[in-house]
Amino acid sequence: LESLIAKIDTLEGKEKEFAAQRIEIIQGVENCEVDRYVEDNETISDDGDVICIDTPGHMPGHISVYVKSSNTLIAGDAMNVTGHELSGANPLFTFDMEEAANSIKKISNLEIDRIICYHGGEYIIDSQVALKRLALKRFNLCLIGFGNASRAFCKILVDHHESVKKMTGYDVRVTAIATKSKGSLIDKNGIDLEKAMLCVETNNMIHETETLDMDTRSLIEQSGADVMIEMSALSITDGQPAISHIEKAFGLDMHVITANKGPIAWKYKVLKKMAEDKNLQFLYETTVMDGTPVFNLVKYTLPGCRVKSFKGILNSTTNFVIEEMEKGNDYASAIKQAQLEGFAEADPSLDIDGWDAAAKTTALANVLLDGDLTPLDIDRKGIRHITATDVNNAFKENKKIKLICEGYVENGQVIGIVSPQLVNQSDLFANIDATSSLVSITTDLMGEIIIIEKNPEIQQTGYGIYSDMLRLLSDL
Ligand SMILES: NC(=O)c1ccc[n+]([C@@H]2O[C@H](COP(=O)([O-])OP(=O)(O)OC[C@H]3O[C@@H](n4cnc5c(N)ncnc54)[C@H](OP(=O)(O)O)[C@@H]3O)[C@@H](O)[C@H]2O)c1
Repeated sequence: LESLIAKIDTLEGKEKEFAAQRIEIIQGVENCEVDRYVEDNETISDDGDVICIDTPGHMPGHISVYVKSSNTLIAGDAMNVTGHELSGANPLFTFDMEEAANSIKKISNLEIDRIICYHGGEYIIDSQVALKRLALKRFNLCLIGFGNASRAFCKILVDHHESVKKMTGYDVRVTAIATKSKGSLIDKNGIDLEKAMLCVETNNMIHETETLDMDTRSLIEQSGADVMIEMSALSITDGQPAISHIEKAFGLDMHVITANKGPIAWKYKVLKKMAEDKNLQFLYETTVMDGTPVFNLVKYTLPGCRVKSFKGILNSTTNFVIEEMEKGNDYASAIKQAQLEGFAEADPSLDIDGWDAAAKTTALANVLLDGDLTPLDIDRKGIRHITATDVNNAFKENKKIKLICEGYVENGQVIGIVSPQLVNQSDLFANIDATSSLVSITTDLMGEIIIIEKNPEIQQTGYGIYSDMLRLLSDL
């Protein structure tokens, strides 16, 4: 009251009018004879039907009243439950966000069908929607890498922001992004993703003016995020620095999603244990066949099944190059074409010499067969030595050459192989064309299951990361 009286002469117009009303009300309250004050959670009707809930927000002492028999909440001033804002607009009072959040937590467990707001208005609502809305929690993401995969994920996130809120009860925001050369950003209120995507496309920088020059691990530390999503470029030789990014995130109690297969190929068991020890989630569906469920298919839909072996076509570039050679095109122009279409690496030897396929084979062997391999343990042969004559001879015998990835257990040891093999033209494997991929999984109880990903685009990669995020949210 004193601070309001002191302030009133400095105010004008509506603010002055409002302050005068407040002073009148508070003076009126102060002049009341108080019998006693109600307590939080106190029943305030004789039949036990009405309880008082202390819900302070921008002023202490605000209460809400809950009528059990009609699932009705008479909301206190700070409880602006209509979803617009938390009544924080009044310049006369300090708005305490933490108090408001605590108030919302208190009422989020109630069964509410109808809200009568202190400032007028009545809302009859579906209680499930209401509960989710009332309990809406923030969920902050830290993105490492803002290349093709990351931006495809961001596009899905922007387009589905509202449906994610409804589905999960979480308001998902990106609070940090790291790149190698395009600058980095931290914004605890949520980065404007559309703007960042446009900036990269037009200026090759993540922001027009303000970017941070910060080491990626420091950015993870300062992001204050709930999950770190590792989407930096793959280092096939050691999985770094992505492994160190993941270790840093686990050290900070952050969940991790990785689209980068390096960490799964080089240090899966250690990272999995770190996550388990801290009760954190570690998800990696995108690392093999983008968003096509491979790991999740086995984990969630084949309970009690043991995977005995797998066999697949998992590298687009080699598949495409052999196919072009079948059409009579030469090796060099096929690689050039694959690079133009954006699925071959700038350094094609990673694909051609079977390294990319070896990393995927390692990831599958480590996860599905409980292996502890690295890409160096894979018996690897690429397609560099394959000639047009080899391809033609195979074709004459109604066969095709395909780069096959295999994993199985022999004498208790997990074995991984990558090699070009002849397959009959009538075989499903022979009909996996261009950028499509296939994996066949043989299990003890369900026999052989085959999954095909048909001509994926970058959206399928974005979806893999998005689906991991939704799984994480639903398991929290
Ligand atoms: N593309 C796909 O279809 C696909 C499918 C499945 C999995 N993946 C995996 O997803 C990851 C990303 O693929 P992509 O196609 O998006 O690659 P990309 O377009 O080359 O983007 C890589 C991003 O990582 C950033 N980066 C590199 N090193 C970094 C570091 N130390 N700290 C922070 N950022 C760093 C790069 O920064 P600059 O922009 O400054 O260079 C770039 O933004 C790779 O590991 C890839 O294997 C991709």
